[in-house]
Amino acid sequence: MISSIVFILVLSVHQCDSYPYLASKLQPDIFHPFQEPGPNDIRGPCPGLNAAANHGFISRSGITTLAELVQMQQDLYNVGLDLAIVLATVGVALDGDILTGKLSIGKESSAVPGLLRTPGGLNAHNKFEGDTSLTRNDYYLADGDNFRFNGTLYGMMYAEAQKNNGLYSWKAMADYPLLLYGAATFLYELFPNGTDKLPTEKVISSFFGAKQTGNGKWAATPERIPSNWYKRETPYTLVDVAVEILKLYLEHIALFGGNTGRPNSFILNPLQLTLDKQTVNGILCFLYQTILSVVPSQIETLVTTPLAILNYLTANLDPIFGPQFGCPSTSLDQIVAKKQ
Ligand code: HEM
Ligand SMILES: *[C@@H]1O[C@H](CO)[C@@H](O)[C@H](O)[C@H]1NC(C)=O
Ligand SMILES: *[C@@H]1O[C@H](CO)[C@@H](O)[C@H](O)[C@H]1NC(C)=O
Repeated sequence: MISSIVFILVLSVHQCDSYPYLASKLQPDIFHPFQEPGPNDIRGPCPGLNAAANHGFISRSGITTLAELVQMQQDLYNVGLDLAIVLATVGVALDGDILTGKLSIGKESSAVPGLLRTPGGLNAHNKFEGDTSLTRNDYYLADGDNFRFNGTLYGMMYAEAQKNNGLYSWKAMADYPLLLYGAATFLYELFPNGTDKLPTEKVISSFFGAKQTGNGKWAATPERIPSNWYKRETPYTLVDVAVEILKLYLEHIALFGGNTGRPNSFILNPLQLTLDKQTVNGILCFLYQTILSVVPSQIETLVTTPLAILNYLTANLDPIFGPQFGCPSTSLDQIVAKKQ
C-alpha cells in the first residue's frame, strides 16, 4: 500500500518534469477528486470558486479563507500572484471577515464572524457581485436570485459561441451583452485546456456545470474541472487582465452602471472608462478606484466598520497598484481628507 503511494508520487513528479506547467496539478489528480457538494455545503455565483470547492482546492464546505483563495488560484488556474491577491482581498473585505480572513463563497453563514454583523458572503448584492453577469440573473429583476445558474442565459452565451466556431473566445464574449469584463476574460484565459488554449464547449460547460437537456435547454449540475485538463502555462497577471478588458470594452463600448429596483431603471456609475483611462495603467487605476468606491459610500459618517474595511483594502492593495502602475495613493488619511 505504502509503496504504491510512493510509486504514484514518483510518477507524478516525473510528469511535472516533462510538463512544467502541470505544477501541482497531477493527472489524474488523486488529491483533488471531484465530489458533489453535500446538503450543507455552500456554493455561489462564481463558477471558478464552485469548481475549486467541488475538488477540495478550497474547503468543500464553501467557507474559505484569504490564504486558501490566494494559494488555490495559483495552484489550480495559474492566476498571477498579483491578481490572486486582488480578487481574494476584495472578496474578503467586501463580503467576508477581515479579522479572520474568512469568506462564504455563497450565502451568509454564521461560520464567518463579522465586525458588527454576519457578512453577506459572495451572494450579497452590490458588493463584489454586480449586475449584467454572464449566467446569473440581475438582482432586482429576479427577486434577489443573483447567484444561481440560469440555463436561458447560458443558452444565449452558447449561441454567441456557436457563431464563433463554437469557441467562447474574446470575440464571442465581446458580442455577448455584459459588464463583467474581468470575469468574461476568465472563460478564454483561465478555463481552456493549457495545452491547446481553446475555450471549447467541453471545458466551458464543465466549469459552469451546464448540461444540455434537449430542446435547447440547459440545466445546472455541480461545477467540475474537466478530466485530463491542464492549467495555463503562464500566470494570468493584472497586466494581462487590463489588456483583455480594454479589448472587450473597445469592441462594444458600454457604460458602467446598474439596475436600481425596477426594469429599465439603469443608473450610470459616475466612474467610467473614459478615453484618458484606456491604457494598462489607466485601466488598473480605474479598477482600483472602483474597488475602493464600493466602501466609501458610507465613509462620510466615519463609521468604524467601513473605515476598518477601507484600511484593510488599502493596506493589501496599495503595494500592488501604487508602485507598479502609478495609481494615486489611496491611504486612508488622503481619502478622509478628500471627503472633508
Ligand atoms: C478570490 C477569487 C475570486 C472571487 C472572490 C470571485 C468572486 C466572484 C463573484 C462574486 C462573481 C459574481 C459576479 C457577478 O455576478 O456580478 C464571480 C463571477 C465569475 N467568476 Fe469569480 N471569483 C474569484 C476567482 C475566479 C477565478 C479564479 C475564476 C476562473 C478561473 C472565476 C470565474 C468567474 C466567472 C466565469 C464568473 C462569471 C459567472 C457568470 O456571470 O455567470 N472567478 N466571481
Ligand atoms: C433566466 O433568465 C431569463 C432571461 O433573463 C429570464 O427570463 C428567466 O426568468 C430566468 N429564469 C430564472 C429561473 O430565474
Ligand atoms: C488537454 O490536452 C491534452 C494534451 O493534448 C489532452 O490529452 C487532454 O485530453 C486535453 N483535455 C481536455 C479536457 O480537453
